[in-house]
Amino acid sequence: MNNQPEKQWIVKSDSSSVALDACELIKNAAEKAIKQHGVFKLVLAGGTTPERIYTMLAKQSLDWANWEIFLGDERCLPESSDDRNSKMAQRTLLDHVEIPSQNIFFIPSELGSDIAAKQYAETIQSKLPFDLVLLGMGEDGHTASLFPGHVHDTNELVHAVQDAPKPPADRVSISASSLSNSQQVLIIVTGAGKKDRVEDWLDKKDLPVAGITALETLTIILDKDASPS
Ligand code: 6PG
Repeated sequence: MNNQPEKQWIVKSDSSSVALDACELIKNAAEKAIKQHGVFKLVLAGGTTPERIYTMLAKQSLDWANWEIFLGDERCLPESSDDRNSKMAQRTLLDHVEIPSQNIFFIPSELGSDIAAKQYAETIQSKLPFDLVLLGMGEDGHTASLFPGHVHDTNELVHAVQDAPKPPADRVSISASSLSNSQQVLIIVTGAGKKDRVEDWLDKKDLPVAGITALETLTIILDKDASPS
């Protein structure tokens, strides 16, 4: 794997401009991937930051039939729970576009983190490398469900996560190396609450988000509030 991707930090005035830029980047990545190999393999992020991006994307007329959707992480909650990352993705994007259901690969976290992690590793194994991985960052520097101080077996493609500090404690997360096994990675960070961690990241402190790389391009788009002046 190339450990030296092109890395770009982009600061926008506010969270809507972040979403607009992110939406453009995703559309361009989709067009390029479909032209090159007929499919666009996209890993979606959970949390609240990407909601606006998904809503914007849902209004576009794109080659949806050739998109494949994965999730970077999932919360171990019943399938029907509105708090699952899959539910947020459905509500904002997937319920509104024509991506074939067989192209949508959710994490079966209702089975518990151990079983779900094993099954999802089998799912993604034949799909790597991804074309684009979208990620957010928590105020403690976590990304997906990779939390500071949590140690995982680096041979695993997908981790079962227990004792997560952000509820629920049980989660499933694609590993840092599999998230980095993507042509492009886009990390979006907004809000003043994240500024200190962005500063730590720039100071090369040891944070889960700082361990993510990409095969070609790693792009970080942040708003002014999250950006250290
Ligand atoms: C989750 C996420 C998590 C999220 C960050 C940022 O399950 O919540 O996958 O990694 O992306 O915590 O969350 P916000 O965008 O809500 O700040």
